[in-house]
Order: sequence, then C-alpha cells, then structure tokens
Amino acid sequence: MPYGPPYKNPALRFPQGNIPTGKTAWRSPSNIALIKYWGKKPVQIPRNPSISFTLQNAYSETEVSYLPARGGRLEIEFYFEGERNPKFEEKTAKFFESVADIFPFVDQLKFVIRSRNTFPHSAGIASSASGMSVLALVLCDLEWMHFGTLQNRDDFLRKVSYVARLGSGSASRSVYGGVVVWGESKEIPGSSDLYGFPVNGEIHDIFKTYKDTILLVDDGEKKVSSRAGHSLMESNPFAGERFRQAHRNLAALLKAMRSGDTETFIRITESEALTLHAMMMTSLPYYLLMKPNTLQIIEKIIAYRKKTGLPVSFTLDAGPNVHMLYPSALKEKVRQFIQNELISFLNPPGFIEDEVGKGPEKIL
Ligand code: DP6
Repeated sequence: MPYGPPYKNPALRFPQGNIPTGKTAWRSPSNIALIKYWGKKPVQIPRNPSISFTLQNAYSETEVSYLPARGGRLEIEFYFEGERNPKFEEKTAKFFESVADIFPFVDQLKFVIRSRNTFPHSAGIASSASGMSVLALVLCDLEWMHFGTLQNRDDFLRKVSYVARLGSGSASRSVYGGVVVWGESKEIPGSSDLYGFPVNGEIHDIFKTYKDTILLVDDGEKKVSSRAGHSLMESNPFAGERFRQAHRNLAALLKAMRSGDTETFIRITESEALTLHAMMMTSLPYYLLMKPNTLQIIEKIIAYRKKTGLPVSFTLDAGPNVHMLYPSALKEKVRQFIQNELISFLNPPGFIEDEVGKGPEKIL
C-alpha cells in the first residue's frame, strides 16, 4: 500500500507496557522565500506556490528525550536556550495534539525538549520554519526507529515536510537543502500544496552557492504576527491578482534560475519582497513592518548595483530586516560595501552571513 498523505495511521501506537525510552536530536535550518507564501486556507494550504533558498547557518538544534507518559497523556517540558519556556511548551503541545491522528503514539510519551537557535532572536529570522521542521523530523524519526515505517529516505522526507507544513507553512520548505518549492504549480511536476518539493536538479550553478547576508535593522517584536497577516489576505482587495501573479512569477523565476539569469532573478525577487509588504499596507487594518532604515538600505543596494553593475539584490521577510542576496564570488566586495555604506543603518550585532544550505541533519 502506498504510504502517503493524509498519513493517518492508527497502528502507530506502542503496546501497553512496552513504551520506549530514548533520545534523538536534529538540526534543521531556516529558509528565505524568493516567491512569498502570503495567504492560506484550511488546513495550511497555501493560496499560491512559493520557492525558497534553504539557509545553512541559521538553524534550530533540538534534542528530544522521550519516556512513557505517566498519566497516559502527552507531556512536554521545553527548554529553550537552557531555560524552561512555557510559551514553546504550549506551542509544541498544541502542534503535537494537532498531529495525534498521524502519530497516535504522541500521547503515550513524555517529551523533554532542549532547543537552541544559532541566530539571535533579534535577527527576526522566522524561527517557526526551523523550529517546526525540527519537531517534524523528531516525530518521523520516532516512527522510523520504533515502527519500521519510513525506511525509504524520500518517503521519510516527504512525510516530514507534510507534518512540518501543518506546524508552519514555511517549515515545509526547510526539510530539503537548496531550492525548494511548496505549493502546486503546473509548471513543476511533483509540486504539491501538501509538502515541499526540491528542484535542485534544474538550478544553474550560480544559484547553488548564493549568499544571503541578513542586515539587522530592528529587533522589536513584530506588531502583527504572520498568522494574522495570512488571514488579513482573505479580505485584501488585491489578493486575487496577487495569487495569480505569484504563479506567473514562480514560472519566470524558475526559468531564470535554470539559465543563470541574475537580472530576471533580481527583478522578480525584489518585486516579490515589495509586493509582500504592499499586501500588508493594503490590508485592513493596514500595517507597516518596514522601518526607515529598511528603505535606506534598499535604496543603497539599488544604487550600488547601478554603479557597479554587480548582481546584488534584496528580499524581505515579514519584518524590517533586509536579506541581501548575491553570488558567492562577490563575498569580499559585498563585505566592503557593508562596511562603507550600510553599517550605520544596522542594529547590533549588525549582520549575519548566511548562504544556500544543505538541509537538516541528524546529530545523535
Ligand atoms: C513572509 O510560515 O511563518 O515568511 O504558516 O502561519 O506559520 P504560518 O506562516 P509562516 O509564513 C511565512 C511568510 C513569509 C513568506 C514565506 O516564507 O514564504
């Protein structure tokens, strides 16, 4: 029988009296979207397909010890960066409960979770992508270790991505290295609304080692969460055209990424970033996540590109920080550019250098 979505499997329960004790640990990265996921329908189905670079240095590292739950119901202790964290405890419990029909063994266990991120909280890097994908990896790993299913690597990763998506949409893309699509596109056979799909085979070498330097503008808490932002798209008068545009942009971007066309890459990814923020500004209630220094930096990047002819560009997440994207060969030049022209707009620690990464790793 093929083992695929919706993955509901009542057989995944431990026999009474034979509930295991053990430990596993995974590292899972964040990712930066080039075509943005913004707008969704139940349950975690994107309104349009998105594509991202998986990052290398920005990741969550999570160790999970498990043992029989005493009361016969799910128990979670969550330590974030060494300290017990009730917020993450509640978030994780909610997530595990929401996937209890996929992993019926979760309510037989007590989980002691110790997690840390390599990126500072102030970076505004979406920690849900790394944080939720790492939890999905752990759950599938438990299934793999104790039930003998998911022995095939492709099956394993597909289920991880499916489950990660239920935790946070963008997390579905962090499960694979390189360039990953999430959301069905007729241009990409194999793409799905239910899980991420890597497209590395078709990507030009220049994009395989692309750099992403995250320029830290502001470390304030987001005024509007991504969850609220997605739901405001339901009443945004421009939403329909935005979703259609994302389909067109994805097709054109992939074409550019196959041929190594950095000019088209820049035009589409920068437009995507500004469109994402335009959607925030045209929602009701409207809101702004960019700061004055976000705009200063964007203008500096555009001026630098014009002056030098170098393919340096920007994208934005749902926040004020700027992701500067460029080919790895420009590393030294870009460092100079930051020191000479951008540093005065940055908030300590200034910037984080990252690049296209290889994807998650089991570390225990
Ligand atoms: C702007 O994946 O954080 O980063 O599914 O509600 O958890 P939830 O949202 P989330 O949204 C990410 C939005 C984005 C664009 C993107 O990553 O595609």
